[in-house]
Amino acid sequence: MPDIDETKEAKMFYTDMPQQTEGFFLKGSNSLDWGIKNRLSRIFNPQTKRTVMLAIDHGYFQGPTTGLERVDINILPLVPYADTLMLTRGILRSVVPPSISKSIVLRVSGGTSILKELSNEDIAVDIEDSIRLNVCAMAIQVFIGGEYERQSIINMTKMIDIGTRYGIPTLAVTAVGKNMARDAQYFRLATRICAELGAHYIKTYYIEDGFETVTASCPVPIVMAGGKKIPELDALTMAYNALQKGAAGVDMGRNIFQSEAPTAMIQAVRAVVHDNETPARAMELYNTLKHQG
Ligand code: R5P
Repeated sequence: MPDIDETKEAKMFYTDMPQQTEGFFLKGSNSLDWGIKNRLSRIFNPQTKRTVMLAIDHGYFQGPTTGLERVDINILPLVPYADTLMLTRGILRSVVPPSISKSIVLRVSGGTSILKELSNEDIAVDIEDSIRLNVCAMAIQVFIGGEYERQSIINMTKMIDIGTRYGIPTLAVTAVGKNMARDAQYFRLATRICAELGAHYIKTYYIEDGFETVTASCPVPIVMAGGKKIPELDALTMAYNALQKGAAGVDMGRNIFQSEAPTAMIQAVRAVVHDNETPARAMELYNTLKHQG
């Protein structure tokens, strides 16, 4: 018979229960370090494995974009419905209250405007500022096939190296030049290059034909970019189809904040992403919320 102390000790150590080693929930991300995984878990919901990112960083190259003229008035009410805000440090510091608990994806590339060649970007934010701002990822534009392709790729790899040193993931944003074909072959090329060179996740556009080959051949999560404003049902359908074809969420801007009812729209997008609602049901939700004002 063990004495009382021995029984107690056996219970405390649970010697009959091996420690569980859980795999990480995001595609291709199991070998990353704890800090990077923890930050990704604040961007992607560990239950649904998906994210709703609200992109409001357009001003860094095109100034006060329609819908973003007053971020304080038009965007802050949407924040409760987003998982993540993607924005510049200027808007973050000047407008967003530091008390928000949402994760932040910080735009860290820049240096060009719509008046010049957009691919001529550089790294525009020091890693120290990303750390200071407690961001969960850094977003950087990559222009595959663009005039400054090499420079933009090297910007990305530098950011990945620096970010990895401090446990901050890098989001590669695949930017498509005006004259480039937006097809599966192009997006397979662009996303795979970013992933091969170490991007932790990738933002790319949806295409009707072959999007599933883009997500299948990219070893890390892909989030769908929204693109220019289209009718609400079309935007919800695009998001739904992207998710069905392997996207791990959306990073939408204009199709949310340029909607007639942005608060209703972001909730409808959220229903598609996290509740697997069909476009028709999400549209019903949009209409109901819109009429409720
Ligand atoms: C573009 O270069 C920026 O990353 C934007 O944040 C993003 O592409 C815009 O989102 P959307 O196309 O949905 O307005």
